Amino acid sequence: MDISKGKIIISGGKPLVGEIPVSGMKNAAVAIVLSTILTEDKCIIENLPDIADINISLQILEEIGVKVKKLSKNTVEIDATYVSPGIAPYELVSKMRASYYLIGAELGRFGRAFVGLPGGCDFGVRPIDQHIKGFEALGCEVKLDGGYIEATAKNGVLQGSSVYMDVVTVGGTINVMLAAVKAEGTTIIENAAHEPHIVDTANFLNACGADISGAGTDVIRIRGVKKLHGVTYTIIPDMIEAGTFMILAAATKGDLKITNVIPKHLDSVTAKLCEMGVEVIEDGDSVTVRRGAAPLNKVNVKTLPYPGFPTDMNPQMCVLLCLANGLSRLTESVWESRFRYVEELKRMGAKININGRCAEVEGIPEFTGASVRAVDLRAGSAMVIAGLAAKGITQIDEIYHIFRGYEDLIGKLQAVGADIKVVYPKNIEFSDFD
Ligand code: EPU
Repeated sequence: MDISKGKIIISGGKPLVGEIPVSGMKNAAVAIVLSTILTEDKCIIENLPDIADINISLQILEEIGVKVKKLSKNTVEIDATYVSPGIAPYELVSKMRASYYLIGAELGRFGRAFVGLPGGCDFGVRPIDQHIKGFEALGCEVKLDGGYIEATAKNGVLQGSSVYMDVVTVGGTINVMLAAVKAEGTTIIENAAHEPHIVDTANFLNACGADISGAGTDVIRIRGVKKLHGVTYTIIPDMIEAGTFMILAAATKGDLKITNVIPKHLDSVTAKLCEMGVEVIEDGDSVTVRRGAAPLNKVNVKTLPYPGFPTDMNPQMCVLLCLANGLSRLTESVWESRFRYVEELKRMGAKININGRCAEVEGIPEFTGASVRAVDLRAGSAMVIAGLAAKGITQIDEIYHIFRGYEDLIGKLQAVGADIKVVYPKNIEFSDFD
Protein backbone atom coordinates (compact mmCIF):
# COMPACT_ATOMS: atom_id res chain seq x y z
CA MET A 1 0.00 0.00 0.00
CA ASP A 2 1.33 3.44 -0.93
CA ILE A 3 1.70 5.36 2.32
CA SER A 4 1.77 8.68 0.49
CA LYS A 5 -1.98 8.20 0.11
CA GLY A 6 -2.65 7.35 3.76
CA LYS A 7 -3.64 9.53 6.70
CA ILE A 8 -2.81 9.03 10.34
CA ILE A 9 -5.80 9.10 12.70
CA ILE A 10 -5.14 9.59 16.41
CA SER A 11 -7.51 9.57 19.35
CA GLY A 12 -5.43 11.51 21.87
CA GLY A 13 -5.26 12.20 25.57
CA LYS A 14 -3.90 8.89 26.89
CA PRO A 15 -0.57 8.69 28.75
CA LEU A 16 1.83 6.42 26.89
CA VAL A 17 3.42 3.80 29.11
CA GLY A 18 5.85 0.95 28.47
CA GLU A 19 9.04 0.12 26.64
CA ILE A 20 9.79 1.51 23.18
CA PRO A 21 12.85 0.52 21.11
CA VAL A 22 14.90 2.88 18.95
CA SER A 23 16.06 1.86 15.46
CA GLY A 24 19.37 2.56 13.72
CA MET A 25 20.21 6.17 12.95
CA LYS A 26 18.85 7.36 9.60
CA ASN A 27 21.50 10.00 9.04
CA ALA A 28 24.38 7.61 9.76
CA ALA A 29 22.78 4.83 7.74
CA VAL A 30 22.29 6.88 4.55
CA ALA A 31 25.94 7.96 4.61
CA ILE A 32 27.28 4.47 5.37
CA VAL A 33 25.09 2.69 2.82
CA LEU A 34 26.16 5.03 0.01
CA SER A 35 29.81 4.98 1.10
CA THR A 36 29.98 1.19 0.66
CA ILE A 37 30.80 1.85 -3.01
CA LEU A 38 34.27 2.93 -1.83
CA THR A 39 35.02 -0.65 -0.77
CA GLU A 40 34.98 -2.66 -4.05
CA ASP A 41 33.91 -5.53 -1.80
CA LYS A 42 31.01 -7.02 0.19
CA CYS A 43 29.75 -5.32 3.38
CA ILE A 44 27.09 -6.46 5.80
CA ILE A 45 25.29 -3.56 7.47
CA GLU A 46 23.31 -4.31 10.63
CA ASN A 47 20.75 -2.27 12.59
CA LEU A 48 19.76 -0.56 9.37
CA PRO A 49 16.45 1.27 9.85
CA ASP A 50 13.65 -0.01 7.61
CA ILE A 51 12.58 3.43 6.33
CA ALA A 52 11.95 5.06 2.97
CA ASP A 53 15.25 6.98 2.83
CA ILE A 54 17.23 3.76 3.26
CA ASN A 55 15.14 1.93 0.71
CA ILE A 56 15.81 4.77 -1.75
CA SER A 57 19.56 4.62 -0.98
CA LEU A 58 19.58 0.87 -1.63
CA GLN A 59 17.63 1.35 -4.87
CA ILE A 60 20.18 3.97 -5.98
CA LEU A 61 22.96 1.46 -5.34
CA GLU A 62 21.18 -1.24 -7.34
CA GLU A 63 20.64 1.16 -10.24
CA ILE A 64 24.40 1.75 -10.46
CA GLY A 65 25.21 -1.95 -10.48
CA VAL A 66 25.72 -2.75 -6.80
CA LYS A 67 24.28 -6.10 -5.60
CA VAL A 68 22.00 -5.63 -2.60
CA LYS A 69 20.64 -8.58 -0.62
CA LYS A 70 18.32 -8.13 2.37
CA LEU A 71 19.38 -10.72 4.95
CA SER A 72 16.64 -9.66 7.39
CA LYS A 73 14.44 -6.62 8.06
CA ASN A 74 17.41 -4.66 9.45
CA THR A 75 20.44 -6.36 7.90
CA VAL A 76 21.60 -6.00 4.36
CA GLU A 77 24.51 -7.35 2.34
CA ILE A 78 25.92 -4.86 -0.14
CA ASP A 79 28.35 -6.07 -2.77
CA ALA A 80 30.00 -3.05 -4.45
CA THR A 81 32.58 -5.02 -6.42
CA TYR A 82 31.08 -3.68 -9.65
CA VAL A 83 29.73 -0.13 -9.83
CA SER A 84 28.88 2.02 -12.88
CA PRO A 85 29.33 5.65 -11.90
CA GLY A 86 27.29 8.55 -13.21
CA ILE A 87 23.98 6.84 -13.89
CA ALA A 88 21.95 7.21 -10.67
CA PRO A 89 18.41 8.07 -11.81
CA TYR A 90 17.35 11.64 -11.12
CA GLU A 91 13.90 10.48 -9.88
CA LEU A 92 15.62 8.63 -7.02
CA VAL A 93 18.34 11.11 -6.01
CA SER A 94 15.91 14.03 -6.09
CA LYS A 95 13.76 12.28 -3.47
CA MET A 96 16.40 12.45 -0.78
CA ARG A 97 18.82 15.05 0.53
CA ALA A 98 21.51 12.56 1.49
CA SER A 99 21.91 11.38 -2.10
CA TYR A 100 24.63 14.05 -2.22
CA TYR A 101 26.89 11.46 -0.56
CA LEU A 102 26.98 9.71 -3.91
CA ILE A 103 29.12 12.59 -5.19
CA GLY A 104 31.82 12.10 -2.54
CA ALA A 105 31.62 8.31 -2.79
CA GLU A 106 31.84 8.21 -6.61
CA LEU A 107 34.69 10.72 -6.51
CA GLY A 108 36.49 8.60 -3.91
CA ARG A 109 36.11 5.45 -5.97
CA PHE A 110 36.46 6.71 -9.56
CA GLY A 111 37.90 10.23 -9.39
CA ARG A 112 34.74 11.52 -11.09
CA ALA A 113 31.04 11.82 -10.30
CA PHE A 114 27.87 12.78 -12.12
CA VAL A 115 24.82 13.02 -9.82
CA GLY A 116 21.44 14.82 -9.85
CA LEU A 117 21.02 17.58 -7.28
CA PRO A 118 19.49 16.26 -4.05
CA GLY A 119 15.94 16.70 -2.67
CA GLY A 120 14.79 16.27 0.96
CA CYS A 121 12.87 18.38 3.52
CA ASP A 122 12.15 21.97 2.49
CA PHE A 123 13.80 24.34 5.01
CA GLY A 124 14.38 27.16 2.51
CA VAL A 125 17.70 27.38 0.71
CA ARG A 126 19.87 24.29 1.27
CA PRO A 127 23.20 25.11 -0.39
CA ILE A 128 26.03 22.63 -1.01
CA ASP A 129 28.71 25.26 -1.64
CA GLN A 130 30.89 23.87 1.17
CA HIS A 131 30.81 20.37 -0.32
CA ILE A 132 31.90 21.86 -3.65
CA LYS A 133 34.61 23.94 -2.01
CA GLY A 134 35.97 20.75 -0.44
CA PHE A 135 35.95 18.79 -3.72
CA GLU A 136 37.72 21.69 -5.45
CA ALA A 137 40.34 21.80 -2.70
CA LEU A 138 41.00 18.11 -3.43
CA GLY A 139 41.76 19.02 -7.05
CA CYS A 140 38.38 18.50 -8.72
CA GLU A 141 36.71 20.60 -11.32
CA VAL A 142 33.02 20.95 -10.41
CA LYS A 143 30.23 22.01 -12.79
CA LEU A 144 26.54 22.50 -12.01
CA ASP A 145 24.36 22.15 -15.05
CA GLY A 146 20.70 21.29 -15.72
CA GLY A 147 19.98 19.92 -12.23
CA TYR A 148 23.15 17.78 -12.21
CA ILE A 149 26.53 18.14 -10.57
CA GLU A 150 29.60 16.89 -12.41
CA ALA A 151 32.90 16.64 -10.57
CA THR A 152 36.16 15.42 -12.11
CA ALA A 153 39.58 15.06 -10.50
CA LYS A 154 42.52 16.27 -12.57
CA ASN A 155 44.19 13.16 -14.07
CA GLY A 156 41.52 11.07 -12.31
CA VAL A 157 43.26 11.29 -8.91
CA LEU A 158 42.20 13.41 -5.92
CA GLN A 159 44.98 15.15 -3.99
CA GLY A 160 44.85 15.50 -0.18
CA SER A 161 44.54 19.09 0.98
CA SER A 162 43.36 21.39 3.78
CA VAL A 163 39.70 22.39 3.77
CA TYR A 164 38.28 25.01 6.12
CA MET A 165 34.47 24.79 6.32
CA ASP A 166 32.97 28.30 6.44
CA VAL A 167 29.85 26.89 8.09
CA VAL A 168 29.54 23.83 10.29
CA THR A 169 27.97 21.31 7.93
CA VAL A 170 27.21 17.66 8.58
CA GLY A 171 26.78 16.75 4.91
CA GLY A 172 29.79 18.78 3.80
CA THR A 173 32.04 17.19 6.42
CA ILE A 174 31.00 13.64 5.53
CA ASN A 175 31.12 14.23 1.78
CA VAL A 176 34.65 15.62 1.83
CA MET A 177 35.67 12.72 4.09
CA LEU A 178 34.31 10.23 1.52
CA ALA A 179 36.10 11.92 -1.35
CA ALA A 180 39.38 12.09 0.61
CA VAL A 181 39.53 8.51 1.90
CA LYS A 182 41.46 7.22 -1.12
CA ALA A 183 43.03 10.51 -2.22
CA GLU A 184 46.79 10.84 -2.58
CA GLY A 185 48.23 12.32 0.63
CA THR A 186 46.54 13.77 3.70
CA THR A 187 43.37 15.85 3.92
CA ILE A 188 42.56 18.01 6.91
CA ILE A 189 38.99 19.25 7.43
CA GLU A 190 38.87 22.21 9.80
CA ASN A 191 35.72 23.53 11.48
CA ALA A 192 34.22 20.08 10.92
CA ALA A 193 30.77 19.17 12.27
CA HIS A 194 30.78 16.93 15.40
CA GLU A 195 27.54 14.93 15.00
CA PRO A 196 27.55 11.26 16.10
CA HIS A 197 26.71 10.21 12.53
CA ILE A 198 30.03 11.72 11.38
CA VAL A 199 31.82 9.59 13.96
CA ASP A 200 29.81 6.52 12.91
CA THR A 201 30.64 7.02 9.23
CA ALA A 202 34.34 7.48 10.07
CA ASN A 203 34.25 4.35 12.26
CA PHE A 204 32.71 2.39 9.38
CA LEU A 205 35.33 3.63 6.92
CA ASN A 206 38.16 2.92 9.37
CA ALA A 207 36.79 -0.61 9.87
CA CYS A 208 37.09 -0.94 6.06
CA GLY A 209 40.78 0.07 6.22
CA ALA A 210 40.57 3.89 5.98
CA ASP A 211 42.85 6.10 8.09
CA ILE A 212 40.64 8.82 9.62
CA SER A 213 41.31 10.47 12.96
CA GLY A 214 39.60 13.27 14.87
CA ALA A 215 35.99 12.55 13.81
CA GLY A 216 33.77 14.14 16.48
CA THR A 217 36.13 17.10 16.92
CA ASP A 218 36.71 20.34 14.96
CA VAL A 219 39.60 18.87 12.99
CA ILE A 220 39.42 15.63 11.01
CA ARG A 221 42.57 14.21 9.45
CA ILE A 222 42.24 11.71 6.60
CA ARG A 223 45.34 9.95 5.33
CA GLY A 224 44.56 8.55 1.91
CA VAL A 225 44.78 4.76 1.53
CA LYS A 226 44.97 2.72 -1.68
CA LYS A 227 42.10 0.33 -1.04
CA LEU A 228 39.20 -0.38 1.32
CA HIS A 229 37.82 -3.83 2.12
CA GLY A 230 34.40 -5.10 3.18
CA VAL A 231 33.25 -5.44 6.81
CA THR A 232 30.27 -6.26 8.96
CA TYR A 233 29.18 -3.06 10.67
CA THR A 234 26.35 -2.10 13.05
CA ILE A 235 24.75 1.36 12.77
CA ILE A 236 24.40 3.38 16.00
CA PRO A 237 20.94 4.14 17.48
CA ASP A 238 19.00 7.12 16.15
CA MET A 239 19.27 9.97 18.65
CA ILE A 240 16.49 11.94 16.96
CA GLU A 241 14.05 9.05 17.12
CA ALA A 242 15.03 8.59 20.79
CA GLY A 243 14.58 12.32 21.47
CA THR A 244 11.19 12.23 19.76
CA PHE A 245 10.06 9.44 22.11
CA MET A 246 11.41 11.36 25.13
CA ILE A 247 9.27 14.37 24.23
CA LEU A 248 6.34 12.06 23.56
CA ALA A 249 6.52 10.64 27.10
CA ALA A 250 6.58 14.14 28.58
CA ALA A 251 3.82 15.52 26.34
CA THR A 252 1.40 12.65 27.08
CA LYS A 253 2.14 12.66 30.85
CA GLY A 254 3.46 9.16 30.23
CA ASP A 255 6.23 6.88 31.44
CA LEU A 256 8.39 5.43 28.65
CA LYS A 257 11.53 3.32 28.87
CA ILE A 258 13.31 4.09 25.61
CA THR A 259 15.71 1.28 24.74
CA ASN A 260 18.70 0.86 22.38
CA VAL A 261 19.97 4.40 22.90
CA ILE A 262 23.33 6.05 23.61
CA PRO A 263 22.30 8.38 26.49
CA LYS A 264 25.31 10.67 25.92
CA HIS A 265 23.91 11.63 22.49
CA LEU A 266 20.73 12.80 24.23
CA ASP A 267 22.37 15.12 26.78
CA SER A 268 20.97 18.35 25.32
CA VAL A 269 17.41 16.98 25.20
CA THR A 270 17.72 15.46 28.68
CA ALA A 271 18.98 18.79 30.08
CA LYS A 272 15.97 20.70 28.70
CA LEU A 273 13.47 18.08 29.90
CA CYS A 274 14.96 18.20 33.41
CA GLU A 275 14.76 22.01 33.37
CA MET A 276 11.07 21.65 32.53
CA GLY A 277 10.53 19.37 35.53
CA VAL A 278 10.42 16.03 33.69
CA GLU A 279 12.15 13.03 35.27
CA VAL A 280 14.81 11.40 33.07
CA ILE A 281 16.63 8.30 34.29
CA GLU A 282 19.60 6.94 32.32
CA ASP A 283 20.40 3.26 32.74
CA GLY A 284 22.97 1.61 30.45
CA ASP A 285 21.53 1.74 26.94
CA SER A 286 18.09 3.03 27.94
CA VAL A 287 16.51 6.22 29.23
CA THR A 288 13.24 6.35 31.12
CA VAL A 289 11.21 9.53 30.84
CA ARG A 290 8.42 10.14 33.29
CA ARG A 291 6.21 13.13 33.84
CA GLY A 292 4.08 13.48 36.91
CA ALA A 293 1.07 15.74 37.47
CA ALA A 294 3.10 18.92 38.07
CA PRO A 295 2.94 21.57 35.32
CA LEU A 296 5.88 21.88 32.93
CA ASN A 297 8.23 24.83 33.49
CA LYS A 298 8.75 27.25 30.61
CA VAL A 299 12.27 27.18 29.11
CA ASN A 300 14.23 28.84 26.35
CA VAL A 301 15.82 26.60 23.72
CA LYS A 302 18.23 27.39 20.90
CA THR A 303 19.10 24.86 18.22
CA LEU A 304 22.81 24.47 17.48
CA PRO A 305 25.16 21.99 15.81
CA TYR A 306 26.02 18.97 18.03
CA PRO A 307 26.49 18.86 21.01
CA GLY A 308 23.93 21.67 21.11
CA PHE A 309 20.18 21.11 21.00
CA PRO A 310 19.45 19.47 17.60
CA THR A 311 17.54 21.36 14.94
CA ASP A 312 15.90 18.04 14.10
CA MET A 313 14.22 18.21 17.53
CA ASN A 314 12.90 21.76 16.98
CA PRO A 315 9.29 20.87 16.05
CA GLN A 316 8.93 18.14 18.69
CA MET A 317 10.30 20.48 21.40
CA CYS A 318 7.93 23.22 20.27
CA VAL A 319 5.00 20.89 20.97
CA LEU A 320 6.21 20.43 24.54
CA LEU A 321 6.80 24.16 25.04
CA CYS A 322 3.15 24.70 24.04
CA LEU A 323 2.18 22.62 27.09
CA ALA A 324 4.45 24.50 29.57
CA ASN A 325 3.44 27.24 31.97
CA GLY A 326 4.17 30.72 30.59
CA LEU A 327 6.15 32.05 27.65
CA SER A 328 9.04 29.98 26.23
CA ARG A 329 11.33 30.97 23.39
CA LEU A 330 12.61 28.55 20.75
CA THR A 331 15.36 29.95 18.53
CA GLU A 332 16.37 28.18 15.31
CA SER A 333 19.96 28.82 14.33
CA VAL A 334 20.64 26.07 11.77
CA TRP A 335 17.90 26.24 9.10
CA GLU A 336 16.50 29.55 7.91
CA SER A 337 12.96 28.24 7.50
CA ARG A 338 12.12 25.53 9.98
CA PHE A 339 8.88 26.91 11.44
CA ARG A 340 6.49 25.99 8.63
CA TYR A 341 4.80 23.52 11.01
CA VAL A 342 3.69 26.32 13.35
CA GLU A 343 0.57 27.05 11.28
CA GLU A 344 -0.42 23.40 11.68
CA LEU A 345 0.08 23.45 15.46
CA LYS A 346 -2.03 26.59 15.66
CA ARG A 347 -4.92 24.57 14.21
CA MET A 348 -4.68 22.48 17.37
CA GLY A 349 -4.86 25.53 19.63
CA ALA A 350 -1.16 26.47 19.94
CA LYS A 351 -0.35 30.12 20.65
CA ILE A 352 2.90 30.82 18.85
CA ASN A 353 4.27 34.03 17.45
CA ILE A 354 7.18 33.86 15.00
CA ASN A 355 9.63 36.68 15.43
CA GLY A 356 12.44 36.23 12.88
CA ARG A 357 14.22 33.01 13.83
CA CYS A 358 12.51 32.81 17.23
CA ALA A 359 9.19 31.18 18.07
CA GLU A 360 7.56 32.79 21.13
CA VAL A 361 5.45 30.01 22.56
CA GLU A 362 2.73 30.77 25.08
CA GLY A 363 1.64 27.79 27.15
CA ILE A 364 -1.89 26.38 26.73
CA PRO A 365 -3.63 23.84 29.00
CA GLU A 366 -4.01 21.26 26.19
CA PHE A 367 -4.21 20.77 22.42
CA THR A 368 -7.47 20.01 20.70
CA GLY A 369 -7.55 17.46 17.89
CA ALA A 370 -7.67 18.88 14.36
CA SER A 371 -6.87 18.09 10.76
CA VAL A 372 -3.20 18.92 10.07
CA ARG A 373 -0.37 18.20 7.61
CA ALA A 374 3.10 16.75 8.09
CA VAL A 375 4.99 19.54 6.33
CA ASP A 376 8.30 17.67 6.65
CA LEU A 377 9.77 14.67 8.45
CA ARG A 378 10.34 16.05 11.97
CA ALA A 379 7.34 18.37 11.72
CA GLY A 380 5.33 15.22 11.00
CA SER A 381 6.55 13.50 14.15
CA ALA A 382 5.68 16.67 16.10
CA MET A 383 2.10 16.45 14.79
CA VAL A 384 1.96 12.85 16.01
CA ILE A 385 3.11 13.95 19.49
CA ALA A 386 0.62 16.83 19.59
CA GLY A 387 -2.18 14.52 18.40
CA LEU A 388 -1.37 11.92 21.06
CA ALA A 389 -1.37 14.62 23.76
CA ALA A 390 -4.54 16.32 22.44
CA LYS A 391 -8.13 16.04 23.50
CA GLY A 392 -10.14 14.48 20.65
CA ILE A 393 -9.32 13.21 17.19
CA THR A 394 -6.40 14.38 15.04
CA GLN A 395 -5.98 13.57 11.37
CA ILE A 396 -2.53 13.98 9.77
CA ASP A 397 -2.09 14.22 6.00
CA GLU A 398 1.05 13.96 3.84
CA ILE A 399 2.42 11.30 6.17
CA TYR A 400 4.93 9.95 3.65
CA HIS A 401 7.33 12.52 5.14
CA ILE A 402 7.16 10.73 8.50
CA PHE A 403 7.95 7.31 7.07
CA ARG A 404 11.09 8.64 5.41
CA GLY A 405 12.70 8.58 8.84
CA TYR A 406 10.75 6.64 11.50
CA GLU A 407 10.70 2.84 11.35
CA ASP A 408 7.38 1.18 12.23
CA LEU A 409 6.22 4.28 14.09
CA ILE A 410 2.61 3.15 14.22
CA GLY A 411 3.45 -0.30 15.59
CA LYS A 412 5.88 1.08 18.18
CA LEU A 413 3.33 3.64 19.42
CA GLN A 414 0.45 1.16 19.55
CA ALA A 415 2.62 -1.10 21.70
CA VAL A 416 2.83 1.61 24.39
CA GLY A 417 -0.90 2.28 24.40
CA ALA A 418 -1.37 4.87 21.63
CA ASP A 419 -4.69 4.95 19.84
CA ILE A 420 -3.22 5.56 16.37
CA LYS A 421 -3.82 4.03 12.96
CA VAL A 422 -3.36 4.70 9.28
CA VAL A 423 -6.38 4.85 7.03
CA TYR A 424 -6.38 4.77 3.25
CA PRO A 425 -8.97 5.97 0.76
CA LYS A 426 -12.06 3.76 0.47
CA ASN A 427 -11.85 3.18 4.24
CA ILE A 428 -9.26 0.42 3.97
CA GLU A 429 -7.39 0.44 7.26
CA PHE A 430 -3.87 -0.74 7.98
CA SER A 431 -2.25 -0.63 11.35
CA ASP A 432 1.26 -0.95 10.08
CA PHE A 433 3.29 -1.03 6.91
CA ASP A 434 4.96 -4.44 6.66
N1 EPU B 1 25.16 24.90 4.64
C1 EPU B 1 25.77 25.79 3.80
N2 EPU B 1 26.55 25.29 2.78
C2 EPU B 1 26.73 23.97 2.58
C3 EPU B 1 26.10 23.06 3.46
C4 EPU B 1 25.32 23.56 4.48
O1 EPU B 1 25.62 27.00 3.94
O2 EPU B 1 27.45 23.59 1.66
C5 EPU B 1 24.34 25.41 5.76
C6 EPU B 1 22.88 24.99 5.63
O3 EPU B 1 22.15 25.90 4.83
C7 EPU B 1 22.44 24.99 7.07
C8 EPU B 1 23.70 24.56 7.83
O4 EPU B 1 24.78 24.79 6.95
O5 EPU B 1 22.10 26.28 7.47
C9 EPU B 1 23.73 23.13 8.27
O6 EPU B 1 23.51 22.26 7.17
P1 EPU B 1 24.11 20.78 7.12
O7 EPU B 1 24.96 20.66 5.92
O8 EPU B 1 24.71 20.43 8.44
O9 EPU B 1 22.80 19.92 6.88
P2 EPU B 1 22.66 18.60 6.02
O10 EPU B 1 23.91 17.82 6.06
O11 EPU B 1 22.08 18.93 4.69
C10 EPU B 1 21.95 17.08 7.99
C11 EPU B 1 20.79 16.19 8.29
C12 EPU B 1 19.55 17.02 8.58
C13 EPU B 1 19.85 17.98 9.72
C14 EPU B 1 21.11 18.80 9.43
C15 EPU B 1 21.54 19.66 10.61
C16 EPU B 1 21.32 14.26 6.96
C17 EPU B 1 20.99 13.41 5.79
N3 EPU B 1 20.55 15.32 7.15
O12 EPU B 1 21.57 17.82 6.83
O13 EPU B 1 18.58 16.08 9.00
O14 EPU B 1 18.76 18.85 9.90
O15 EPU B 1 22.20 17.92 9.11
O16 EPU B 1 21.81 18.87 11.72
O17 EPU B 1 22.23 13.96 7.71
C18 EPU B 1 16.44 15.15 9.29
O18 EPU B 1 16.98 14.08 9.60
O19 EPU B 1 15.21 15.38 9.47
C19 EPU B 1 17.25 16.21 8.68
C20 EPU B 1 16.73 17.20 7.99
